[in-house]
Amino acid sequence: MMAEVILEVEGLKQYFEISEELTIKAVDGVSFKIHDGEVFGLVGETGCGKSTIARAVSGIYRPTAGRILYRGLDTSERKVHETMRRECQMIFQDSGAALNPRMTVEKIIQEPLKLNGLTGGSDAASDGVQSMLQKVGMDSMYMTKYPTELSGGQRQRVAIARSLIINPKLVIADEPIASLDISIQAQIINLFRELQSAAGFSFLFIAHDLSVVRYISNRTGVMLHGRLVELAETEELFENPVHPYTRSLLSAIHVPDPLYERNKVFSEYDTGQQLGEEFVEKSPGHFVLEG
Ligand SMILES: Nc1ncnc2c1ncn2[C@@H]1O[C@H](COP(=O)(O)OP(=O)(O)OP(=O)(O)O)[C@@H](O)[C@H]1O
Ligand SMILES: [Mg+2]
Repeated sequence: MMAEVILEVEGLKQYFEISEELTIKAVDGVSFKIHDGEVFGLVGETGCGKSTIARAVSGIYRPTAGRILYRGLDTSERKVHETMRRECQMIFQDSGAALNPRMTVEKIIQEPLKLNGLTGGSDAASDGVQSMLQKVGMDSMYMTKYPTELSGGQRQRVAIARSLIINPKLVIADEPIASLDISIQAQIINLFRELQSAAGFSFLFIAHDLSVVRYISNRTGVMLHGRLVELAETEELFENPVHPYTRSLLSAIHVPDPLYERNKVFSEYDTGQQLGEEFVEKSPGHFVLEG
């Protein structure tokens, strides 16, 4: 039995007209679904259109073509968009850096509750903030601190706490670890994993790095030049990659297994070549761009 679909991106195209001669096709016909409680990973090189998808989903752009459905309803309708806004949270690479420097950690985490009219008594709200802070691995002594008094990793934890305090149904994280030190990245990924499995929200997780996505997502889509070139359950994608671009990404990953590393064949893919037209289901749930 499949869980219900919470988010569907259907034939999305997002073009930017730069001048009469130049239109950037940032997203050029992308479709995927995210089910309740599922972690969907989206990967691909810089400029392939990942953030544009995240922004289109959150309603910042009006799609050039295609639709974004939330629980089966078109988000171009105001009511549906508003429901989605209430139930969906976004986390960015620089969310931690963008925290209001004049607010304490407590006020920052509390703010979404206030904005959504969800503060009961202020004691209850304060307890909620404290327990959220603990869930992201920070001691309650940080409640009274200001963002400038925290490290980059701690600020991103606060941003995550702020996003999760209203129990979102869907979380969209656009490269949420990219600006952190390597040593901190693993901690934050672990944190996301724990929080997602405890709270059970659906999760669109965007990253450059396939190895990060492998660790966190149930299904993974690989993007190139505004298109999805391959989409499959994550383990299937890693075990049976079909598209040469996916293969080249996989061959670039370091796997901490000497036998695997010794037998690894580097595969190069010329990203300048023409992409196929048809997204074909090669085996159940495993789609590849062909033609
Ligand atoms: N608002 C915009 N106006 C014009 N062009 C844009 C706009 N937003 C994105 N683009 C272009 O669309 C393409 C896709 O950009 P996008 O930011 O979605 O890529 P990305 O996959 O998120 O890259 P990165 O990994 O670097 O974050 C790029 O060529 C980018 O320059
Ligand atoms: Mg981006």
